[in-house]
Amino acid sequence: MTSSLKRQLLLWLLLPMLIITPVAASLQYWLVLSPAKLEFDHQLGDFAIAIASFLKAKDNRLRFEMTAETEHLLRTDQLDKEFFLVVGPSGEIIAGDALLDTPEKEVQAGEFRYVDRKINKRVLRMVVYGVPCGQHVCQIRIAETLVKRNKVQAQALITTLISILILSLTTMGVMLVAVQHGLKPLQDIRNQLAQRSFDDMRALELPHAPSELKPLISTLNQMFKRLDEASTVQKAFLADAAHQLRTPLTALQTESELALLEPHPASLHPTLERLHHSACRAGKLANQFLMIARADNDQNSVKYSRIDLKEIGARAANEWSRRAFSSGIDLGFQLESAVVKGQPVLLQELLSNLIHNSIEHAGNGTRVTVRTHVLERKAILSVEDDGPGIEEGDRQKVLQRFFRGGHAKGFGSGLGLAIVNDIARIHNAKVTLTTGNNDKGLLVCVAFDCTA
Ligand SMILES: Nc1ncnc2c1ncn2[C@@H]1O[C@H](COP(=O)(O)OP(=O)(O)OP(=O)(O)O)[C@@H](O)[C@H]1O
Ligand SMILES: [Mg+2]
Repeated sequence: MTSSLKRQLLLWLLLPMLIITPVAASLQYWLVLSPAKLEFDHQLGDFAIAIASFLKAKDNRLRFEMTAETEHLLRTDQLDKEFFLVVGPSGEIIAGDALLDTPEKEVQAGEFRYVDRKINKRVLRMVVYGVPCGQHVCQIRIAETLVKRNKVQAQALITTLISILILSLTTMGVMLVAVQHGLKPLQDIRNQLAQRSFDDMRALELPHAPSELKPLISTLNQMFKRLDEASTVQKAFLADAAHQLRTPLTALQTESELALLEPHPASLHPTLERLHHSACRAGKLANQFLMIARADNDQNSVKYSRIDLKEIGARAANEWSRRAFSSGIDLGFQLESAVVKGQPVLLQELLSNLIHNSIEHAGNGTRVTVRTHVLERKAILSVEDDGPGIEEGDRQKVLQRFFRGGHAKGFGSGLGLAIVNDIARIHNAKVTLTTGNNDKGLLVCVAFDCTA
């Protein structure tokens, strides 16, 4: 299981709570219950004092004089049953309920001793009170059932549980929100990084990030800076190398073409043809590398101008009509005005790649249509053919560099559509590949933002 910062924080906060909560609950329960218990015991003690006032020593004889009404009054309690017993100095019962005649330790005069006694299968709370009688000490025992006490105990338990539950749930909720809130800056960094394209090396901007994250952000930004510098050097190298290679390769292409036209021994012809073919291929590759480098560099440096896609289409018509005709392709143009902000040379290259692909891969006898128009506030440049098309599973792959389809024709390198995609990306345009009309062939559609 992968470790999660959020889980760890919650664990560290909640674990102590699991220990503290029962301790706090017990403490609260005890604090609520003990004053009530004490109060009930005091009442029992008061009852004992009241009973003691009816015990009189007369002529060396102990007498307990209490009217039936007074006894009824003293015993009256809504919930509990009250019992009393007056015991003489030598343990003889003077008055009261004999069931309280349990063996009890002696008490001093004026002393109260509270005990729980199980009598007739019932637990009673009893106070034993020492009262002076002549030279000796008599005992007043008062006991009562526990109905009141049990009720108060249950009440205290419910109050404690409810308050602890409310407190725990609130604390847990607050912790969750606090952890969520505390981790938000990390989420912000993640969101900023996730929204970026792979070559976006701008510094992260999180002005309100907490001070603990500032070193991390600063390290990331330094790394982006270094990567950006390295990537700039690499792109410049690619552009320079491609540029430098282009001239000798063009010369090689021309020379090999001339050599093929000059009289030469028949045995040399296949070698010269292979040489010319390789020179053409290398020249095209150098051009494509140059295009990729330009697309990468232009992303940051070129100022875009307003350009009508219709003009790009018209130029392509001039450039490609003859070649399409000689390849047996019916190349048509349906050009409507669609103004975008862009780089004319790159847009021309984008369209050339698409037309070239259709001529190359759709094959002899097919129909190719180039369209420019505005649809739903987007400027559309599309090339459609009725050739074999590209299988759905390959349509994303062909946009990657060096990917060629299984039935690809010609001596390509799998860079054309990647260049189309690069150029579209730096124009904030989107390339989609679908089947053409009647579910046949290929329709490559590039959707740009319109410019008024
Ligand atoms: N119009 C098309 N019809 C059928 N398949 C196509 C079409 N356009 C492209 N493809 C397929 O997509 C692949 C990638 O195209 P891409 O233009 O990137 O490379 P390429 O044409 O093979 O080589 P390069 O463009 O470098 O000369 C091709 O190899 C081909 O299989
Ligand atoms: Mg191509």
